[in-house]
Parts: sequence; structure tokens; C-alpha cells
Amino acid sequence: MNQESQATKNDDRMLINTAARHLSEQLVDHDALIRRLFIALLTGGHVLIEGPPGLAKTRSINRFAASINASFARVQSTPDLLPADITGTDLYQQNTGTFSFMKGPLFNNIVLVDEVNRAPPKVQSAMLEAMAERQITTGGVSRELAQPFMVAATQNPIEHEGTYPLPEAQKDRFMFFIDVSMPDSDTERRILDTVLAEQAELNQTPKSTINSDTIINSTKAIVNVHLSDAVRDYIVRLISATRGHGLGGSESNDVRYASSPRGSIFLAQAAKANAWLEGRDYVTPEDVESLAIDIIAGRLSLQYRAIAEGITQRDVVERIVRATPKV
Ligand SMILES: Nc1ncnc2c1ncn2[C@@H]1O[C@H](COP(=O)(O)OP(=O)(O)OP(=O)(O)O)[C@@H](O)[C@H]1O
Ligand SMILES: [Mg+2]
Repeated sequence: MNQESQATKNDDRMLINTAARHLSEQLVDHDALIRRLFIALLTGGHVLIEGPPGLAKTRSINRFAASINASFARVQSTPDLLPADITGTDLYQQNTGTFSFMKGPLFNNIVLVDEVNRAPPKVQSAMLEAMAERQITTGGVSRELAQPFMVAATQNPIEHEGTYPLPEAQKDRFMFFIDVSMPDSDTERRILDTVLAEQAELNQTPKSTINSDTIINSTKAIVNVHLSDAVRDYIVRLISATRGHGLGGSESNDVRYASSPRGSIFLAQAAKANAWLEGRDYVTPEDVESLAIDIIAGRLSLQYRAIAEGITQRDVVERIVRATPKV
């Protein structure tokens, strides 16, 4: 590699890390979430953020999108939403007597689907199909989606009435399942200070610092990050353990449905991006370990007995990670 292209790659990384630092000043205690949003963006992954109301789920995605020079759309899910509201639809043009396609919000680079569990199943499945296929077919015509394309969906696990839980099989299309939880009192104080200071300075919109070239170049650089046989085997051990195989396999007694191979593919891609963001051109087992819970937990269904005992998917993956040797 010549010096110039090496320098460009370092610039791309620096731009992204600077934007991440800037976001972390606006999103208190959300560094892990910010890192995962960038990893997903750079690897073609999608993110599901779960948590109670008022924990900056929507704000995180809004601010993240604002830091990138890419098209952004927000879909507020309601029970009367129709698939065509997100995919787009053929509209009759009176003057020409023909139909022309009006693109829906899914044709943007970053799409925030807020409160996704309040959207009816047909809308959810249109969204999940677009996420996996990266194209939308209406009236027999397929249209490619934008590049990059990233869905960030949020849901609130508290409200059950009038909600449609995402089907387990379709959740598999997300790369990350991120839980946001209640802040402790120190964090709460920092949130308060941050928001009040922002209000005092009235509506300063953060500048976007990342353009699409930076994203495309970074994505290419990440593909070339080295993933050794030993680390590949570690990924496979973790995923196999959810199926009851190998060391760590006994930790899976609570699992009803295990991770699909998407789990290991996403884990590998995300670990490469994590390594690259940290300035390395090779993946360590620690890259994998640090992302394992947020990638694997949401893919597991637990035994009813385990659920009744209050065991969570994250508990199970935490135990698997602890029991699985890294080398
Ligand atoms: N960690 C945080 N950093 C900065 N601001 C925060 C944080 N947590 C909460 N807030 C503030 O709390 C308010 C609620 O944020 P937001 O609307 O994004 O929450 P939400 O998680 O999307 O809630 P809901 O589930 O009700 O839609 C905002 O004013 C936001 O600035
Ligand atoms: Mg919200």
C-alpha cells in the first residue's frame, strides 16, 4: 500500500472517531451504543434498540444521523401504518395517464423506525424484507435501496397493549440488539447538565462531518482487516455453545432456539470493524468478546421455564462468554 492511501485511511478513521467523540458529548453514557451504530453503518448491519421511555433512544439515532452527510428518514410506527407508507407506492399521474413510483422512507441511507413494535406485522415484514434483500419489489418491479443502508429501530418493552412483538425469525436480520437501561444518579446529573446547556445555547445543530466517500472507503478497509483462524474458531465456539455444543454448551440448557449462522457472520464483521476503529488491521478475541452479548442475545429464544425464573437472553450469553475459552 502506498503512503498516500495509507494516509487517507487514517483520515477516514480519524473523521469517524472524532464524530463518535462529539456524539458522546451529546449522548451521556452511550459510548457503547455509539460504537455499535458506527460498526453497523460500516458493515451494512441494522440495529434494534430496546429500553424504557426517555432514555435517549430516538435522540441517539437522530444525532447519529445528523453527524453523517447521508439521507435520513424517520418513521413513527402506529397501528394504522401500511407497508406502502414505508416502501413507497405507484401513484397514478393524471396528466400522463401512467403510474410512477413514489419512493418511501426506506429508500434513505439511515432510517429510524421508532417504536417498531407498534407497527402492524405487514409493515414489520416489509421492513425486515428490505433489510435483508436491500431492495423493494412492488408491482413486479424491484428497486435497489440506497448504499449505505441502515435501519435503526427502537422499541419499548414496557407497553404490551397495542403492540406486535417482532417475530423471532425476523429479528435475526438485525446485527445488534442493544439494551439501554436506567442511568445511575451521577449519569442522571450529567444528562441534566448536558440537556440544560444545550437548551441555553438554543438549537445548535451539530455539523455533519462524515461524507459518503468516508463511509465507502472505511467499509472497504474493514473488509481487509485480518481475522485469524484462531479467532474464527472462537466465534464458532461461542455460537455453537448456544446450540449446546462444546465447552460452554451446558450454559445453553435455558435456550429453546439457538443462534443462526447469521450470528457468527455478524460477529465476525462487527469484530473487524471494531478492530479497525481501534486502529488495528487484525481482530483480537477481545473484539469478539466485547460485542458478543449485543450480537447474540437477541437471536436466542429461551425455555419458558427459564423465562419464568427471570433469566434473560443476555444472562445466558454472558454465561456462555464466561465459559468459552478464547483460545
Ligand atoms: N443519556 C442521555 N444523554 C443525553 N440526553 C438524554 C439521555 N437520556 C435521556 N436524555 C434526554 O431525555 C429526553 C428523552 O429522550 P428520547 O426522546 O430520545 O427518549 P426515548 O428513549 O426515545 O423515549 P421514548 O421511548 O419515550 O420514545 C431527551 O430530552 C434527551 O435529551
Ligand atoms: Mg423515542
